[in-house]
Amino acid sequence: MHYGHFDDQNREYVIETPETPLPWINYLGSEAYFGLISNTAGGYSFYKDARLRRLTRYRYNNSPLDMGGRYLYLRDNASGKYWSPSWMPTRTKLDKYECRHGQGYTIITSKVNGIKSSTRYFVPLGESLEIWQTTLTNESGSDSDLSLFSAIEFCLWDANDDATNFQRNYSIGQVEIVDGVIYHKTEYRERRDHFAYFACSEKLDGYDTQRESFLGNYKGWDQPQVVESGSSLNSEAHGWQPIGSHHIKVQLKAGEQKQIVFILGYQENPKDDKFDPPASQSINKKRVKPLIEKYLQTENADKAFNTLRNHWTMLLEKFQVSTPDTDTNRMVNIWNVYQCMVTFNMSRSASYFESGIGRGMGFRDSNQDLLGFVHMIPERARERILDISATQLKNGGAFHQYQPLTKRGNNDVGSGFNDDPAWLVLGVAAYIKESGDWSILDEQVQYENEEGTESPLYEHLQRSIQYTLDRLGPNNLPLIGRADWNDCLNLNCFSDTPGQSFQTTTNKDGTVAESVFIAGLFVLACKEMAGIAQHRNDKAQVDQVENASAEMEKTVWTAGWDGEWFRRAYDNFGHVLGSKENAEGSIFIEPQGMCIMAGLGVENGNAVKALDSVAEHLATPHGIVLQQPAFSQYYLHLGEISSYPPGYKENAGIFCHTNPWIMISEAMVGRGEKAFDYYKRINPSAREGISEQHKCEPYVYAQMIAGKDAPTHGEAKNSWLSGTAAWNYTAITQYILGIRPTFNGLKIDPAVPADWDGFTIKRKYRNVTYLINVTNPKHVSKGVESVTVNGKQIKGSMIRAEDGSGEVTVEVVMG
Ligand code: BGC
Ligand code: NOJ
Repeated sequence: MHYGHFDDQNREYVIETPETPLPWINYLGSEAYFGLISNTAGGYSFYKDARLRRLTRYRYNNSPLDMGGRYLYLRDNASGKYWSPSWMPTRTKLDKYECRHGQGYTIITSKVNGIKSSTRYFVPLGESLEIWQTTLTNESGSDSDLSLFSAIEFCLWDANDDATNFQRNYSIGQVEIVDGVIYHKTEYRERRDHFAYFACSEKLDGYDTQRESFLGNYKGWDQPQVVESGSSLNSEAHGWQPIGSHHIKVQLKAGEQKQIVFILGYQENPKDDKFDPPASQSINKKRVKPLIEKYLQTENADKAFNTLRNHWTMLLEKFQVSTPDTDTNRMVNIWNVYQCMVTFNMSRSASYFESGIGRGMGFRDSNQDLLGFVHMIPERARERILDISATQLKNGGAFHQYQPLTKRGNNDVGSGFNDDPAWLVLGVAAYIKESGDWSILDEQVQYENEEGTESPLYEHLQRSIQYTLDRLGPNNLPLIGRADWNDCLNLNCFSDTPGQSFQTTTNKDGTVAESVFIAGLFVLACKEMAGIAQHRNDKAQVDQVENASAEMEKTVWTAGWDGEWFRRAYDNFGHVLGSKENAEGSIFIEPQGMCIMAGLGVENGNAVKALDSVAEHLATPHGIVLQQPAFSQYYLHLGEISSYPPGYKENAGIFCHTNPWIMISEAMVGRGEKAFDYYKRINPSAREGISEQHKCEPYVYAQMIAGKDAPTHGEAKNSWLSGTAAWNYTAITQYILGIRPTFNGLKIDPAVPADWDGFTIKRKYRNVTYLINVTNPKHVSKGVESVTVNGKQIKGSMIRAEDGSGEVTVEVVMG
């Protein structure tokens, strides 16, 4: 069943009913000021950090779902009838409804009794504010007398404290209302140098800033007493719950149209210039006044919107493909890459499923997010790499997470996830392959953000590699620590206390449990490191990683190979996991994908064997599950993985992040058909027709689709923020379509369904635009017969990076 449709021309998803199976959300902002917005205008805003600098409130696990957002109310003053043009929160029946989600903006349009309203929400590039542009059109045939009310609820900045520390919070809320602008300034009198402001382009007929005055005691957002009565109370918040609501009366003649603009913004002032007059307690507004004046003018708001649209055109132009498959085209050209931007910005912090309070930026997550982002804005990828590596521990390890506002490692979660450091090598390699910027390796970067500890980034990578070598277990496989990629495989945890964190509890000394997955990852990281060291003529380093990786490969074949697939791990008792010997959890997806991506078994046939085992035991029509058989009970020695009911999350859910590893592996062994088949199974656009079952947005990947052991098999959850975005982008663009950046240039290596006649790609790479035309006259699924660059056939299929700008045409014949 469809709840909307793709408008590929406009690069939008058009939602046709407010009653989607779940709120279908979008993101506003791409630099510092961000927001989540649902198809009914639910969601919230924050500056840089959803936990520490939250502007507006939002209540998760609420009923009705998705309550709290950027709300408007329209009231027909003649009849007293009122409604929400975004449907929520009044849920009045709308005669027409449409929500268009685009890249960094959302437009919600509706009509009631001939009054059409359309609101465009977006964040202008370079600004810390959001604009709501509301256009009202009277299509009723007669004159109307309307009231428009805006409504947001301010958060007292620290989202966690805001939701818990009521004995304090109910007394500290403060606002100022000056010239119709509502300023939220809780804690500004003391240590905060920042405030929020909510402005409107029209002369106000009233305002409210105290929630209970606006709503009425014990009343909800669906029937605020101020909207019901049609007159604001001009309330001023002193403590309790500060809100922002403007009231504008609008007389619209039949056929008349009017645009009203709102701005919600965030501003910091220098410590010594906070107040105006200086001895007072009132906010110095000199920095925001020009912004308010500027963006409340429709032409300026329009201009900012066009700039944002053009910015996205420029970003998306960097990789455009035309294949015989529409789902592929729209995901690669628009939505997948957009999701990569969002995951780059957000990591796993703020979504409909992530409260923004729990997790900051993940070390491994951010490194992987780079894979799908780096071609868009390499400079920002560079900055991110330097930020991440500055949190690295001196022993080469990593803080598992860090806070985006402070850029410091998060001590609450700490370190000891033994796969973390290796991802840094992969992230840096991806950056260099894309940009050709080798100078990043010489950047001086701190450890643990400590002054005086600086060393070149290159040394950080060396320490990452060394970290694994310093932690080998009884079989010479890498020790797993608290967990590896699978945060829930906690082999040293042994927690029997309810509520204890599986991630931070360690009851065993960690000297026995080992990970085959990390072994594969290590081999892959060593390959990248060898390429990097080679370029620096660091022969000793090349030898070291090549030897270490050869050793590790040997170990995998002796201790990590089960005969038909790669094993997963050894537990704290030295027993194998992910083997025929195990009644439950006998085969896992992760080591198959990671070991094959590292090249293991590609030559000797074992990769194909492992992939056939994946197809036999793990593949479902909705994607490939994480392991089989699912764990039917809680196992103390396995940890969180067995805490989930069978079929969900890490306990045999379709953990979409891992599926592209299998696609890549299938492409590597030459089976383009299978690679593409797996790609389509989880491609959200291809699943649009089963939206009532899939439930999440059809335009972005979800972290998980319930596996075959779950009663809700096929139902997706945790959409938007997932490594799935970057890895699927990598799988489809670099391995299936096969346009792959390497240290020296672009490798052309497609693995596609044999019935494809070909496809074309426009790829901007190191300032050169490659116009690539791939034909497949012999209908093979892998293999390149010839590559012709600007009319000249080259040797092999590697196009060496060329300097300068300009267009290069490339003719590729498969065969
Ligand atoms: C998630 C992990 C996360 C863990 C935290 C799991 O369900 O998939 O990524 O670290 O929960 O408890
Ligand atoms: C989500 C986490 O963000 C990611 O780091 C982890 O690899 C997966 N869950 C699997 O547990």
